[in-house]
Amino acid sequence: QAIKAIRGRLLSFVAEPAGPGDTSSYRLIEDGLVVVRDGRITEVGEAADLLRGLPEGTPVDHHPNGLITPGLIDTHIHFPQTQVIASYGAQLLEWLNKYTFVEEQRFADAGHAERNATFFLDELLRNGTTTAVVYATVHPGSVDAFFAESERRGTAMIAGKVMMDRNAPPGLRDTPRSGHDESLDLIGRWHGKGRQRYAVTPRFAITSTEEQLEAAGALVREVEGVYMQTHLSENLREIETVRGLFPDARHYTDVYDRYGLLGERSLFGHCIHLEEDEVRRLSESRSVAVFCPTSNLFIGSGLFDLDRLSRGAAPVRVSLATDVGGGTSYSMLRTAAEGYKVLQLGGQNLPALAAFHMMTRGNALSLGMGDEIGVIEPGRFADLVVLDSRATPAMAHRMETIDGDLDEELFVLMTLGDDRAVAATYVQGRLAWERG
Ligand code: GUN
Ligand code: FE
Repeated sequence: QAIKAIRGRLLSFVAEPAGPGDTSSYRLIEDGLVVVRDGRITEVGEAADLLRGLPEGTPVDHHPNGLITPGLIDTHIHFPQTQVIASYGAQLLEWLNKYTFVEEQRFADAGHAERNATFFLDELLRNGTTTAVVYATVHPGSVDAFFAESERRGTAMIAGKVMMDRNAPPGLRDTPRSGHDESLDLIGRWHGKGRQRYAVTPRFAITSTEEQLEAAGALVREVEGVYMQTHLSENLREIETVRGLFPDARHYTDVYDRYGLLGERSLFGHCIHLEEDEVRRLSESRSVAVFCPTSNLFIGSGLFDLDRLSRGAAPVRVSLATDVGGGTSYSMLRTAAEGYKVLQLGGQNLPALAAFHMMTRGNALSLGMGDEIGVIEPGRFADLVVLDSRATPAMAHRMETIDGDLDEELFVLMTLGDDRAVAATYVQGRLAWERG
């Protein structure tokens, strides 16, 4: 496959939408063509213009009823929680102990990790997600299994070994030294290999000692281009516990700040109950706050305050994520829909254009990967998803009332859509999933 083309309705953002109906924020080509050479987009434009210039015999995948957008990006998800998702009746700390830490112990077995990595990547691609920021388990083998499977598929993934040296079962604990050395070893093996990148991953303040957070900070300082991911201010009992464990810290964010863990490649899951000074530090450091609506609802954590974080005097970069298995869906469409509802409860809004921008270009920018993914433009990888706004009877019926208004169509797609609305997913121009 040296050259190929993909034809359909193309949607790609050029800027963050200022509000509903901001037609200057995107480019829509009704009958468009994406030309792909060796996995990268080389040309984008009107099919009528570009088809003529293609070499004789170039394969063209035509999706006449498809809306083609960049592959969706999930900025916080746990690959060892595919059999934790939908666990009943607990809030964060109990949920971790009762379900998550039990399941994660099974990843000591490499075979288990490999089977789950395969399932997980299949499921992401079925949902149109082509890049994700992923927590593995404490076991280095879980990271190897995950990256090996991602590399086989050609997907761009960011992942890391969870670091936990306290308040977890013995089978899930490392030490400041082993956590550091194993992470460094994995970085050497995977960071920058193909499309894989490493994220230093202290799980959260409760499960790391000061020595371990120090070691995590050292990794972030020492290794060029690594990411850092953790959880921050998700649940009130969690915050109380952190206060007890780190009595000298000014607040939860300060626990991470002291060890140099804030920064523009740092992703903080949840950020629900922040104090004003925490918002200021996240803003100053250009850290990313990750909105995980289905998880925050399901674990009963609280309501993310998008306006406060992203539109205040000290704006914080915000991305969107599923947080499976605290989250309840692999679908970024469902995630956006629940995000909309969470914001509604606070009198805020999430226009469909803003949601689709977030799932694509916005999340790519939050990862500093705007020149690789998130838009359909020459030079970017041809990671694409073909969406079907009429995928279900309810969607098709509702679409009968919509006469070409993109905003309304996207809102139907996110509100009623899920994996059924994903007709096909491309990774580097290769068909990675197609609905039967
Ligand atoms: N905080 C620490 N670990 C986890 C986790 O696995 N999921 C969620 N939602 N929050 C966490
Ligand atoms: Fe999480």
